[in-house]
Amino acid sequence: MNNFKRTLVTTALPYANGPVHIGHLAGVYVPADIYVRYLRLKGEDVLLIGGSDEHGVPITLKARKEGVSPQDVVDKYHQLIKDSFEKFGISFDIYSRTTNKIHHKTASEFFKKLYDNGAFIEKETDQYYDEEAGTFLADRYITGTCPHCNSTGAYGDQCESCGTSLNATDLINPKSMVSGSTPVMRKTKHWYLPLDQHQSFLEKWILEEHKEWKPNVYGQCKSWLDLGLQPRAVSRDLDWGVPVPIEGAEGKVLYVWFDAPIGYISATRELTPEWEKYWKDPETRLIHFIGKDNIVFHCIVFPTMLKAEGSFILPDNVPANEFLNLEGDKISTSRNWAVWLHEYLVDFEDKQDVLRYVLTANAPETKDNDFTWKDFQARNNNELVAILGNFVNRAVVLTHKYYEGKVPLMGETEPFDVQTLESIPAIISSVEKNLDQFKFREALREAMNLARLGNKYLADTEPWKLQKTNPERVKTIMNISLQITANLAIVMEPFLPFTAQKMRNMLNMQQAVWSDCGKTELLKPAHAINEAKLLFEKIEDEKIQEQLDRLARTKTSNEAENKEAEPAKADVSFDEFSKMDMRVGTILEAERVPKTKKLLKIKVDTGIDKRTVVSGIAEFFEPEQLVGRQVCILVNLAARKIKGIESQGMILMAEDADGRLDFVAPGTKIKPGSQIR
Ligand code: 2FM
Ligand code: ZN
Repeated sequence: MNNFKRTLVTTALPYANGPVHIGHLAGVYVPADIYVRYLRLKGEDVLLIGGSDEHGVPITLKARKEGVSPQDVVDKYHQLIKDSFEKFGISFDIYSRTTNKIHHKTASEFFKKLYDNGAFIEKETDQYYDEEAGTFLADRYITGTCPHCNSTGAYGDQCESCGTSLNATDLINPKSMVSGSTPVMRKTKHWYLPLDQHQSFLEKWILEEHKEWKPNVYGQCKSWLDLGLQPRAVSRDLDWGVPVPIEGAEGKVLYVWFDAPIGYISATRELTPEWEKYWKDPETRLIHFIGKDNIVFHCIVFPTMLKAEGSFILPDNVPANEFLNLEGDKISTSRNWAVWLHEYLVDFEDKQDVLRYVLTANAPETKDNDFTWKDFQARNNNELVAILGNFVNRAVVLTHKYYEGKVPLMGETEPFDVQTLESIPAIISSVEKNLDQFKFREALREAMNLARLGNKYLADTEPWKLQKTNPERVKTIMNISLQITANLAIVMEPFLPFTAQKMRNMLNMQQAVWSDCGKTELLKPAHAINEAKLLFEKIEDEKIQEQLDRLARTKTSNEAENKEAEPAKADVSFDEFSKMDMRVGTILEAERVPKTKKLLKIKVDTGIDKRTVVSGIAEFFEPEQLVGRQVCILVNLAARKIKGIESQGMILMAEDADGRLDFVAPGTKIKPGSQIR
């Protein structure tokens, strides 16, 4: 691997149709950032490329739903996403976007080159068209009845009930999800990348020449190849995207998965006039950080495009991660089951490194993993606070206490000191080895072992007990402790950049360089260090409970959303209905019924009289809020006693599936006593 002169690292471009969450960070951006920071510390030539993926059907649908333009949608989320990454210290050399001019130009030229090379095949096919919305429909925007299990609500690409994958034309009674109308068939022409023609090249390149790829990546590629590759359409009938740059292609754009990876190239081109060096010189090592759902595009489709273009290098590695779940459930944007980064930054101010730490320590590198708030709390309290924070703090505080903040001269050493010193380079080389193999969780565990080593060293030698009796010995112990701290200030930089910076400030160290790692004379005798600052603080149960409560609320409201409405009751005649005397009333007074949780005693002006009603709504309304409010009241319901109070009639309420109540009330002010019918 050392034959390479430079490294180009790309990170999957997130769709700009929503904010980013912990799954994004854990799967792609934190590992990529760790890797790049590590290479930079080693003084290597490396670029970290990112940006927003701003084309595709979901963005146009979101815009339609919100009554804004697709550009408005991507402008909003691009900014939010970019900001979140920046605040988490993801050290992009550029974070660009695919609506930029330079991207349209680059993607357009790329397509044209492939077209001119004869790399595409043209095909005319029948596709569903929504006449009402005036648009062709992607398979997943058509619903209907599954031909296999008869369940309604199957999607054009898959029935989620029985799991069968479908073609939209298989659906019985298809409906467009865009307008709700029945789509019709229309002929349309598209350009296809004939992956089948590249099958044998890909087999050799991946299965023989890249056996070192992660097993999950290699395995997925192998099963795609074993199935046999098919031509893939690279254009779509849509008015949002990069226009297909050839004659007769009006109204067609490049498929979002064709233009998105070219976004890596455009962004590099935007960043530096030397971009071709990074993309075309075989001495560049290209690495794509992605999640597992993107493997086929980065290992099969994009390499085929690059190769067909002719002048580009192919990726050297694609260290894709599996998925991160949240409290046992799949993270889902539409179900709001996520920890959103912009919200975390508000709830846990200045604790970016805590999340970076937890997500790396628990990274879904080889299998799906679960993020739980309890684990987050435990790792913060038991590892960051109790081990790393505690050790660094003791080393710095004692140095101030005993030596006025000056590094003491190392005296004679005992075997335990020597053993401790010798452990340092061993730990560092293990960190390196793991980082080189994209094993970030193991690398972090090793880096933490350095803090464990220091913590144990102080606990075992107990310098605070020796200072009076054997101050010479204490000098040695403190010197060694400070050398370990200085090593931590470098080795933690890729993982916990904010903390490492704080440590270097405390130790009054220069910019970190990786080659200093493992050295045991990083801080020279008499070097002055700065005051101790706390690196981490304990996270209390209440803080964690708030997050769990929020998720519980999301779950309840999702369940309610999914519940089907109660079936209709048996018919009543009009006469029966007319027997009910319902009126508009105005609330005059309201108070809690003592010793109950749910009941309010409410006085209502019904227009006929002023009467008392007991109503079970105390969990949803404060009595003071109710005065003056208009309601619907059933006035001829026979009076009954509730908790000793005579309740005369009933206030009508709407109740949703999770039991939340709200008033049924006129939309404008209506005279009390007006009839409801
Ligand atoms: O899965 C996704 O979120 C895609 N937007 C990733 C694109 S990666 C690259 F091709 F740009
Ligand atoms: Zn089915």
